[in-house]
Amino acid sequence: MNADGGKISLLARWLAEGSPGRTVVFSGAGISTESGIPDFRSPGGLWERFDPEELSFPRFVASAQSRRRYWEFYRENWRLSREARPNPAHCAVAALEQLGRLSVVITQNIDGLHQKGGSSPEKVLELHGNMWEVRCLSCARTYPWVEIFQRLEQGGEVEDCVCGGLLKPATVSFGQSLPGEVLEEARRHSINSDLFICIGSSLVVYPAASFPQMAKHKGARLVIINREPTSLDDMADLVISGEAGPVMTAVTDLLKKIDLGLSFHGGERKDGNCPF
Ligand code: APR
Repeated sequence: MNADGGKISLLARWLAEGSPGRTVVFSGAGISTESGIPDFRSPGGLWERFDPEELSFPRFVASAQSRRRYWEFYRENWRLSREARPNPAHCAVAALEQLGRLSVVITQNIDGLHQKGGSSPEKVLELHGNMWEVRCLSCARTYPWVEIFQRLEQGGEVEDCVCGGLLKPATVSFGQSLPGEVLEEARRHSINSDLFICIGSSLVVYPAASFPQMAKHKGARLVIINREPTSLDDMADLVISGEAGPVMTAVTDLLKKIDLGLSFHGGERKDGNCPF
């Protein structure tokens, strides 16, 4: 871990001092790279292989050719993500919930790894939806993703819904509106937070990147944990440059020791993916 230990201790102390249930974790694709899922804007990221413009919502609805390109992207997405397991960063975020600190996780990710890593589903706000469901854009009927994935793997095309509507994964594409109730809940938690921790995001996509700024403007401490500099580093109270897994594990281990009066002897591995 190449993060400054002093910064890790400071964040653990802020978590220990903060009001219970007023810490928001905000995550991006960088929290899932240690699970083997590439992010978008790092070297080798998905936007090196696919043009996000080509995958926009207006293009998707406009032409069968664009939809074919979109489904190629999703075939790759499902291939890369279906075997992925939560990594120590997801586990550490779930531990913050176990330790009574977390209000919500606001995630830009669609991989569902926060929930698999032990975060309560009702505490995970998926701003950009979830890739493990395919829905009709007209009647909202859902289809099992795995049947569509298998058809794509066999070189087949994605057919329309029985109602004649277009099928699309239940995720938000560029040019598509985000779910209003999720946005409102994310806004409410952001402005009520006293500690807002961004993990693994370049913080360049809106409206998602507006939430850390809302929190900061309402008086929360803003923390950014990222491998590279981000566009909000200048407004952050603390920037920890490092890998999400080791950094967040060190922070939560220290927090547990503080909570237990330094008598903490390490988490016992429980069932599932994460030790708490
Ligand atoms: N630990 C810490 N940071 C990491 C790690 C890691 N293991 N791996 C990658 N990162 C950092 C990268 O340096 C990068 O700055 O995470 C950031 C990921 O940034 P992006 O690839 O831009 O992903 P994200 O911020 O989630 O993108 C937001 O853009 O294309 C849309 O819908 C897409 O939800 C996505 C949105």
